[in-house]
Formats: sequence, structure tokens, C-alpha cells
Amino acid sequence: MDSSATVAPPAPEGYAYAGPVSDFMPLPKAASTTLTTEETTATAATAEGSESTSCAAASTNASGPVCSVESKTAKDGEEYLIKVVEIPQPAGRYPPQKRVAISHYRNKWYAFINICPHQGSALSRGSMMDIEDMGIVWGAGITCSLHNWTFDALSGQSDSTRFVIDTFDVKEVDGYIFVSQAPRNAQVAGQRRDFGGREMN
Ligand code: FES
Repeated sequence: MDSSATVAPPAPEGYAYAGPVSDFMPLPKAASTTLTTEETTATAATAEGSESTSCAAASTNASGPVCSVESKTAKDGEEYLIKVVEIPQPAGRYPPQKRVAISHYRNKWYAFINICPHQGSALSRGSMMDIEDMGIVWGAGITCSLHNWTFDALSGQSDSTRFVIDTFDVKEVDGYIFVSQAPRNAQVAGQRRDFGGREMN
């Protein structure tokens, strides 16, 4: 990883810029709180929890197209972030941007639509969780904070409903993060619902 680079490389084909790797890593424990966009980037326009209507514009410098960043603690004390960005979609698609939550959790990258298909809550307000069987962790999921629906963070499938969330591929290039514009799980059957591309609460 080249952390000295100050300009992001061009996005790989089919991917959009999401920000430098450092934006997705937790702060040292003493400074770790729920962050506002103002605290994480000078170009941010909205604060966590606000009813924002747009995110900071994507750029090719050190700042990413940030909407919000939340600091989390796993049950074993591991710190991680969930950062929400707007990923532009190919021309003619609606909505023109998708609000995608990105997390580096248990040393793996995850990206998924930030809108819970139940009642539209921001999934970034929830928590990442380990998916395990017989004590063996084999995956990760996201638990919605509103009614605790859970979704596999790679397949997008719910363990208790027919709903599926879009998930996305993440690429790390020279210390910068890019997210696929198209879902990685388009072939997964299930009902998708994005409430017009906006979180409802
Ligand atoms: S809004 Fe997510 S579980 Fe109800």
C-alpha cells in the first residue's frame, strides 16, 4: 500500500472511487467516537445522523465522496468503521447514485447498499456481525439497528426474510478504495427494495 500518494489512481473499469484506505480504518481508541463528516474531511457537507440531501462530491484527491462515517465496536472489542459513500451509476440508471456502506471488518472489505429493504433504515447505523456455525466464523453480516434484520454482507441474503440487499466488490489500488458500480450479487434471487435510493430514517 502506497500511503504517500496524494492523488487517487484512475478508477478500474466498472468501479467508482470511495476514498483512501485510511478513511476506513478506526482512529486510536482514545479518539474513537461517532464521527461527523466535518471531522473526517474538509469537503464533507453533512453530519452523521442528519437528514442530508446530498453527499460531498467525489474527487480524485485524498477526500472521498463521503456521506457519513460511524465508529463501531464488535462484541470482542475490535474497532471498525462503516463509511457511507455515493457511488455514481452508469448514465441512464436510476437512481443516478447508490448510497453504499463500506466496512473493513475482520481484515476483509465489505460493501453493501445502505438502505434496509424492510423500512428503509440506514444499515450503517447497525452493526457488523460474525456469521458462524459450530463456533467457526465463515462470513460477516450486517444487522439493521431498527428491527434487527440481518443480511450476509457478501451474498446479501437475509437469514429470516425473502429480502436481499445489493452487495458490491471492493478493490484496493495504491492505498485507495474503489467500489464496483454493479452489484456483485445480481444473480442472487430475492426481493430488493431501495426506497428510491434514499434512507428513510
Ligand atoms: S428497517 Fe431494517 S429491520 Fe426494519
